[in-house]
Amino acid sequence: MSTTVIVLGNEKGGTGKSTTAMHIIVGLLREGYAVGAIDLDARQGTLTRYFDNRVAYAEKTGMNLPQPVYRSIQRSELRDKVLATEDERQQVQNLVDDISRHCDIIVIDTPGSDNPLSRAGHSFADILVTPMNDSFVDLDLLGHIDPDTNAVRALSSYSEMVWDQKKSRALRDGGSIDWVVMRNRLATLDTKNKRNMDAALEALSERLAFRLAHGFSERVIFRELFLKGLTLLDVREERSAVELTMSHVAALQEVRNLLHALGVPEVVAAPSVAASG
Ligand SMILES: Nc1ncnc2c1ncn2[C@@H]1O[C@H](COP(=O)(O)OP(=O)(O)OP(=O)(O)O)[C@@H](O)[C@H]1O
Ligand SMILES: [Mg+2]
Repeated sequence: MSTTVIVLGNEKGGTGKSTTAMHIIVGLLREGYAVGAIDLDARQGTLTRYFDNRVAYAEKTGMNLPQPVYRSIQRSELRDKVLATEDERQQVQNLVDDISRHCDIIVIDTPGSDNPLSRAGHSFADILVTPMNDSFVDLDLLGHIDPDTNAVRALSSYSEMVWDQKKSRALRDGGSIDWVVMRNRLATLDTKNKRNMDAALEALSERLAFRLAHGFSERVIFRELFLKGLTLLDVREERSAVELTMSHVAALQEVRNLLHALGVPEVVAAPSVAASG
């Protein structure tokens, strides 16, 4: 089986790339895949810190937590821009080649801003997952929409970049990038905004050729386990840390739906629900 590369990308900061990467990786690990993780946002290092925390927590508690092979790549120190760009592309290539020897799937987290390292990462994607907040401010980072007709007036710089990387990918190995956009931190109320976003995203998805996947709601469980390096997919193993509520079960379903949309079959068996609800 050849290695599948999943890239998390969006030039907008704070949309949930690292959080989604973490949940995808743990979901895949628990499904039994050998997973590699590459952090191209080494300066912030959220994904790396998440797994450092996970390793430390497993050591401290003796828990048998599945771990990915995880590495990060720093920005090139070469002064010449052209050489630095090539150096970064080569580093991504080398690391992908290296990890591919041991892993079925590689998940790459990228920074919330444009740089050559992020571009290089995007060009290796088989699947590109773009989380976005459920807001027209975030949507504008994908394309400019006419407020009356929802017609797409212009592509954004990020969408242009994705199309450039689709071309790079096709030239390199004839492969294509399956682009999946997911809405993150969805509010459970605010239905008018949701409906307007639905219509606008529908128009954008046709023009930009991405698929829409069901996203994650705004839930504390998506962020509260960071310091332990855990996700709600680990909670069954770690009953003492978190008691499962209805909200957790709903969150678990959201993660499963995303993995399913990415082509991963059922990930974890349904957990038992705490009586507290
Ligand atoms: N579904 C969610 N529910 C609650 N909090 C969330 C959710 N998704 C992300 N967060 C929180 O939102 C913040 C931004 O998430 P995250 O760091 O994953 O975004 P990012 O896109 O990787 O950011 P950056 O561009 O800075 O790398 C974090 O505090 C994270 O814990
Ligand atoms: Mg991040």
